[in-house]
Amino acid sequence: MPATIIMGGQWGDEGKGKLTDALAADAAVVVRANGGSNAGHTIETDQGVFKMHLVPSGILNVGCLCVVGAGVVVEPSSLLAEMDDLQRRGIALDNLRISDRAHVVLPFHPLLDRLEEARRADDEIGTTLRGNGPAYADKAARRGLRIADLVDQTTLRDRLGTELREKNAILTGVYGQAPLDADTVLDELIAHGERLAPFVAPSEVLVQDGLERGDRVVIECAQGAMLDIDYGTYPFVTSSSPTAAGACQGAGVAPTQVERTLAVFKAYSTRVGSGPLPTELQDETGQLIRERGREYGTTTGRPRRIGWFDAIAARHIVRLNGVTEVALTLLDVLDAFEEIRVCTGYEVDGSAITHLPALENVLTRVTPIYQTLSGWREQTTAVRTATDLPTEAEAFIRFLESAIGAPITMIGVGPDRAQLVKRESTLLHQVRSQIVA
Ligand code: GDP
Ligand code: IMO
Ligand code: MG
Repeated sequence: MPATIIMGGQWGDEGKGKLTDALAADAAVVVRANGGSNAGHTIETDQGVFKMHLVPSGILNVGCLCVVGAGVVVEPSSLLAEMDDLQRRGIALDNLRISDRAHVVLPFHPLLDRLEEARRADDEIGTTLRGNGPAYADKAARRGLRIADLVDQTTLRDRLGTELREKNAILTGVYGQAPLDADTVLDELIAHGERLAPFVAPSEVLVQDGLERGDRVVIECAQGAMLDIDYGTYPFVTSSSPTAAGACQGAGVAPTQVERTLAVFKAYSTRVGSGPLPTELQDETGQLIRERGREYGTTTGRPRRIGWFDAIAARHIVRLNGVTEVALTLLDVLDAFEEIRVCTGYEVDGSAITHLPALENVLTRVTPIYQTLSGWREQTTAVRTATDLPTEAEAFIRFLESAIGAPITMIGVGPDRAQLVKRESTLLHQVRSQIVA
């Protein structure tokens, strides 16, 4: 049974946690592919609200093996706090595994994240300050420590000493900060390593064994593809690849083993932190969407920036990632609007462009070209069958499908697990019939 990728199609917070939880109900394995505790994935059930940061969002499904993949950067104390919280709430962790190849976010990484942001001053990225960027930088520079090193005290002692000497030179010499005490850092990491050791495993082997058995494997990405380090709005991006390709790499799954690539999109746009958001609404409409959608960061609590749906960005992501289907979430947030806008083109310096410019200062200057659609002014939160959606809502969904070029097969009409509606897309029928032909 091949794998399914669940990825964010926009700037993060599209509802990946909710979709992963839903698909995990029929899956044997969920593997988180990238990111770290910068992610915040919400699941709402009758057991309450769960905000997952590092633990895969399949964990509420009893019997589902939940794997933190090699592409993730793990901050041990955050992971342990999350694990403790889940256990306190009666969630078993017997099925949690952590890749021995995942890199560790070390105590100096969040410090450097904060200091680097301060140095950028007005050009700050608006990171989550969780140390992800510096940890991925060390991974790429081949200076990182991995979970395998964390749980092997001899290696940990040896590697940490070298790295800490260098980082202390930067902390004191470049930033004028106090150095970190080597013994304190080491003792803390040894304690964390001892607690995590029972969960550590060669995760790519577990995932491949599952695929070989014919198990359903779901790959859960963090962030959104517009925050991708290569194809996102660089430098206002995260430091990993929240793409279908990144999902394979981070999870230990081959591209040829992927059957479905499900991209999650909101019915509008949001973004946390700095960087271009071409359809941004800095007015009452934006404020109303923010309040209706409870658009405040799951990890940092920051108000999310709001904009209309950007079909140019969405089409770009659908094409680059070979998206086979789309879950459209937070449709209910638009229930209140008489008119809904969708960006279907960009204009820069009087010329139309249909791709995303590489230069951030060009993307910041684009004027979005909008199509205006009728709203439905009807509550959708109780809808459980797609055919019961208001006519205008169905028209909006069809418009988006053709603008982005992918079938919309699931609709979110509220945060609860039950508020996810399956939809038969005519576009999907067209795609299938083309394949058959
Ligand atoms: P993730 O990072 O992609 O998992 O998304 P987040 O959990 O950070 O943000 C999504 C937010 O929207 C959370 O508060 C969810 O509970 C909520 N949510 C998800 N789907 C829906 C939906 O269809 N309607 C509404 N109103 N809220 C939703
Ligand atoms: P989930 O998985 C939304 C954003 C930050 C910042 C930029 C870089 O919940 O969708 P980083 O800390 O990664 O170096 O910050 O990326 N960012 C997210 N925005 N959702 C996320 O995760 C995010 N993870 C990082 O706000 O703009
Ligand atoms: Mg989130």
